[in-house]
Amino acid sequence: MANVAVVGTQWGDEGKGKVVDLYAKSADVIARFQGGNNAGHTLVVKGEQTVLHLIPSGILHDNKICVIGNGVVVNPKVLLEEIDSLKNRGLLPPNTKLYVSERAHVIMPYHWKLDVARESHGLGKKIGTTGRGIGPAYEDKIARVGIRMCDLLDDHIFRDKVIRNVQEKNFYLTRLFQEDPLDAEAIYNEYKTYAERLRPYVTDTSMVINDQIKRGKRILFEGAQGCHLDIDHGTFPYVTSSNTVSGNASCGTGVGPSAVGEVIGICKAYTTRVGEGPFVTELTCAIGDSIRDVGHEYGATTGRKRRCGWLDIVLVRQSLRLSGITGIALTKLDVLTGLEKVKICVGYRTPQEEFTESVPANHRLLEQCEPVYEEMEGWKENIGKARRIEDLPRNTRLYIERLEKLAGAKLVLVSVGAGRDETIIIRNPFGD
Ligand code: GDP
Ligand code: IMO
Ligand code: MG
Repeated sequence: MANVAVVGTQWGDEGKGKVVDLYAKSADVIARFQGGNNAGHTLVVKGEQTVLHLIPSGILHDNKICVIGNGVVVNPKVLLEEIDSLKNRGLLPPNTKLYVSERAHVIMPYHWKLDVARESHGLGKKIGTTGRGIGPAYEDKIARVGIRMCDLLDDHIFRDKVIRNVQEKNFYLTRLFQEDPLDAEAIYNEYKTYAERLRPYVTDTSMVINDQIKRGKRILFEGAQGCHLDIDHGTFPYVTSSNTVSGNASCGTGVGPSAVGEVIGICKAYTTRVGEGPFVTELTCAIGDSIRDVGHEYGATTGRKRRCGWLDIVLVRQSLRLSGITGIALTKLDVLTGLEKVKICVGYRTPQEEFTESVPANHRLLEQCEPVYEEMEGWKENIGKARRIEDLPRNTRLYIERLEKLAGAKLVLVSVGAGRDETIIIRNPFGD
């Protein structure tokens, strides 16, 4: 099966955008299947950087079909801004089509208002969300009151839903959070203009993708966030509100699970996390600061400082299991250059002095776990120009060989810089 899903194996920002852009050359359709504009996927092509929040990372290639699937939550304003910005920069190729699922749910102003109010009023646990309304939008989907793209395009349904929903959300906003109420009429008018502009893009994207599959075309499914931000399998409650594991590539686009063939897990050579939540290998010392500086570890969406730490194989191995990963794309290996020693966490020591190789579900227990490290020699040589494994210094090769052994999976590529071509390709999952 020549279809490929790309997912993050850590807590997001592993470099999924770069890898999807790279693989998009071999694909016909590139489809996002979950998340929303909490994602920030960075592409660097010929030295020019593009950050995408909603549009699939295949958009810079000509002659592709880019799909925002039913599992995505769409902020129409952000999507239009993203389309306009690409157009203005001359980056929307003429023969590439963009489609949005008519079943995708819409992020409304009350969603981000509630998201921000909850995080700032100290009523519940602070998650450190991106404040983009992702959680509240998915809540409305599950509660069966959400507004889908097809509802947004139907004046009658849309008006009715906006009035009802604003009435309910204003109750929480004003009574619980002492915020100003929202004006349903103003929202209706604003969103009607978005609806008209987005109408040409909205369609049954499951039909589009399945039709392409029937024609023997290749699909690239683009995950957002990472395995440990998954609503079921992540470090709950410090997670996002969707399934980020590869299984959702099927549900979130409307294809059967057998259509998803290879699953590539993107793994950064160290670990980062944005927002709250347990992080066993976090480095709150000079080494962590240095990794942040060298790796430019600041959020592509919110600009927040990313917390940095050593590579945690416990997290990666769990992702391999949960997503059925068939190959690892190792990114940002260049960032570790210059460190005297490099460490890999191979297991956790629990408060009961037990050794575990899996992530405890209980977050209080996870917070108390101590990392058990293997230490290796670092390397000083610049690896940015390496294009074959043999070009890497000996210590770098020893590091990645050990990583493969500990993870129990083979690498398919090693990324040594942000640019599309700053990559060592070991195996192309599309078979090219
Ligand atoms: P995503 O959310 O998984 O797509 O990742 P982000 O785009 O949020 O963050 C990854 C950052 O690392 C971006 O700024 C990329 O341009 C950059 N990047 C990706 N791969 C590499 C690499 O191999 N080396 C370096 N130095 N930067 C990289
Ligand atoms: P990409 O696709 C890193 C984190 C937030 C917060 C938690 C919940 O670029 O890898 P949310 O706004 O989703 O309700 O926030 O999830 N988070 C991400 N962290 N990369 C992302 O996306 C993220 N999307 C959400 O920081 O901790
Ligand atoms: Mg990101």
